[in-house]
Amino acid sequence: MISDAAYSLDAPSEEEPGAQEPAVAEPRARSIPRVNIQAFCEDQDTASVIQKASEDRRLAKAHITVQMGGVEAAVAFYRNASTPNLIVIESLLDRNAMLSDLERLAEVCDPGTKVIAIGHVNDVLLYRELLHRGVSEYVVAPMNVSQVIESVSSVYTDPESGPVGQVIAFVGAKGGAGSSTVCHNTAFAIAGALASDVVIADLDLPFGTAGLDYNQDPPQGVADAVFSPDRVDTAFVDRLLSKCTDHLSLLAAPATLDRVYDFGADAFDAILDALRTSIPCVLLDMPHQWSGWTKRLLLSADDILVVAGPDLANLRNAKNLVDLLRASRPNDHPPYYCLNQVGVPKRPEITPADFAKALEDPPLAVIPFDPQLFGTAANNGQMIAEVSANHKTAEMFRQLAQILTGRTETKQSRSGLLPMLSKLMKRAS
Ligand SMILES: Nc1ncnc2c1ncn2[C@@H]1O[C@H](COP(=O)(O)OP(=O)(O)OP(=O)(O)O)[C@@H](O)[C@H]1O
Ligand SMILES: [Mg+2]
Repeated sequence: MISDAAYSLDAPSEEEPGAQEPAVAEPRARSIPRVNIQAFCEDQDTASVIQKASEDRRLAKAHITVQMGGVEAAVAFYRNASTPNLIVIESLLDRNAMLSDLERLAEVCDPGTKVIAIGHVNDVLLYRELLHRGVSEYVVAPMNVSQVIESVSSVYTDPESGPVGQVIAFVGAKGGAGSSTVCHNTAFAIAGALASDVVIADLDLPFGTAGLDYNQDPPQGVADAVFSPDRVDTAFVDRLLSKCTDHLSLLAAPATLDRVYDFGADAFDAILDALRTSIPCVLLDMPHQWSGWTKRLLLSADDILVVAGPDLANLRNAKNLVDLLRASRPNDHPPYYCLNQVGVPKRPEITPADFAKALEDPPLAVIPFDPQLFGTAANNGQMIAEVSANHKTAEMFRQLAQILTGRTETKQSRSGLLPMLSKLMKRAS
């Protein structure tokens, strides 16, 4: 947990349920495009794991069919049918028999079709031979749902550049909790300290403050895209971005009231798809509201940070949000949350420890209430790190950026404190 010492919590013990790794550095599976995937299994367990994986949000756009019969069934099937974008094929055989089976499959495969092989032998030579013959992945059964998602997603990930298009949604547990402020400052740290391209999509169309916070008044933004769904593609959305810093761009909210903003549940799908293909990191500044489209965006984001103030309404709402997101996304990292505006003089507050107990997870950060610092930043159209680069709150945003993206700081920007802190965090977890 990132915290001012005054609000520190006991470090979670290994046995504690839900205790989370502070630094998530593993590559994470990304949503895959609208492709056809056909699986031919030998083992009923493999078939049901693939079936379960097909219900995951990351594979939701793909059309997936699962049938039994392995290579035999596949070869017979594709004699009369064209092959899909991806075939997942299971074999119970040993190296040589499996290789010759896959050669028979290759004869009926259209060029461009990719293959993931699932085998029952852990054989490095077989693995190398398969990759040599153009198989994209070899996975040894039994596999779990996450492995299926990872393998399928990796077929659509450029191995050179790694996964692009991480979407992180920032949502307040209550209006005014500070979720936009946390979102914008985290974006600034991702762009600055981590030197990674990032876009903030300000989805609070009538009242969004990203433009104000970055001292920008762009003539176009997210409204141009959401009101012309037929025109939305990567190039179109690219033209709507306004550049704030070297690595940071904004898809600004109009923040005008001349029209109303009622949308269908899938209104933002195409915009997100377009952003995802070209931007490594997309931060959604979500309005505090519960509608078809806000729920859908939260469920489909790669990571979520709920920002809560230390009071009872925030606690109840944060718990409801976290519980719902946990239950609906069983194969994902649970949503993160942080506390903000903590330590208002004379105000009775619910402690981080009580939040941790109720939400079964420690907060990712506890950000102190600092009206002087935040007020100066907000009124000047600046980020906290621009007002005071060495302030401990600016350091918190850098660490939030690091944890949420699973990336580390570039050498030039790394502060002396951070390596020591991350060592301490690792030891504590
Ligand atoms: N830690 C803090 N200390 C002091 N002021 C803060 C802090 N965090 C945010 N603020 C201030 O609180 C106000 C509300 O912040 P912000 O607009 O980010 O909240 P929000 O959750 O996005 O609100 P909304 O529900 O309108 O979307 C802003 O004036 C901001 O500068
Ligand atoms: Mg907001």
